[in-house]
Amino acid sequence: DDVVTRMKNIELIELGRHRIKPWYFSPYPQELVNLPCIFICEFCLKYVKSQKSLQRHLTKCTLKHPPGNEIYRKGNISFFEIDGRKNKAYAQNLCLVAKLFLDHKTLYYDTDPFLFYVMCEMDDRGFHIVGYFSKEKESSEDYNVACILTLPQYQRKGFGKLLIEFSYELSKYEGKTGSPEKPLSDLGLLSYRSYWTHAILSVLLDCKKTEDDLPPNITINEICEQTSIKKEDVISTLQKLNLINYYKGQYILTLNKELIEKHHKEMGKRSLRIDPRHLHWTPKD
Ligand code: COA
Ligand code: NA
Repeated sequence: DDVVTRMKNIELIELGRHRIKPWYFSPYPQELVNLPCIFICEFCLKYVKSQKSLQRHLTKCTLKHPPGNEIYRKGNISFFEIDGRKNKAYAQNLCLVAKLFLDHKTLYYDTDPFLFYVMCEMDDRGFHIVGYFSKEKESSEDYNVACILTLPQYQRKGFGKLLIEFSYELSKYEGKTGSPEKPLSDLGLLSYRSYWTHAILSVLLDCKKTEDDLPPNITINEICEQTSIKKEDVISTLQKLNLINYYKGQYILTLNKELIEKHHKEMGKRSLRIDPRHLHWTPKD
């Protein structure tokens, strides 16, 4: 790619109540680049050149939430499922916003093969986009996430792990294991590592509730089944945590007190969780 065309081209965006500085290039039309700020409707994600144009747009735009079906709501958190074929304009606008914060991903102009799961925070003004992930309708590689993003104003509050948790809940409903598309960004890998560690340790501790000093009696395949995390990710997480030990001719998983204590402390801090009872969804076949 031509280096010049890849340089950051948008100074600032206004999205709802937030003004955000983009991180990377995104292929917005030429007449929008080099403006001090571009204005984006926080509900339909249409972009315009000026505050005035946005106000004009808002008198016509009736959306107070993303298009598509609301498939999850608990408290003020909702997820909407958007079909990239049926809601092409929205999906393309979402990809343009997302690209502002994604370095390495190719932008898919063809949104038809994807579903988009948009997470919103609701208040009396509507459903405000916090982040999203996209997912191929059909993945030959068992990917359950293509792109994932928490908008910068919401980052580092646990929303990334909430999006990831949601993606694995969908995989559980499908009865499959899944994995995010590679390569992951540094921040993406950090978030996945953190999520995988929490999910796997929770399963291990669940199955050793009573016998305190025995290693958890569970196979790696059973961990995959219970978490929907793909086997190679389970193994790499266990290795990273240094939990796989070879003992008397077989592999055993050993947990130590420090790790367990650290785990309980971190889970205690994770107030945002997906409650699968509030998911109203059936996989399409
Ligand atoms: N520096 C250091 N650690 C960071 C970090 C930063 N800037 N941002 C997040 N983390 C860590 C958090 O500390 C947390 O770890 P912990 O659970 O051990 O505390 C973990 O990453 C996840 O944090 P969380 O708040 O749940 O995630 P988030 O809402 O910030 O979203 C991303 C994470 C990856 C979705 C977000 O950074 C993002 O949208 N990045 C740009 C797009 C991208 O790179 N996507 C992934 C590739 S497709
Ligand atoms: Na929205």
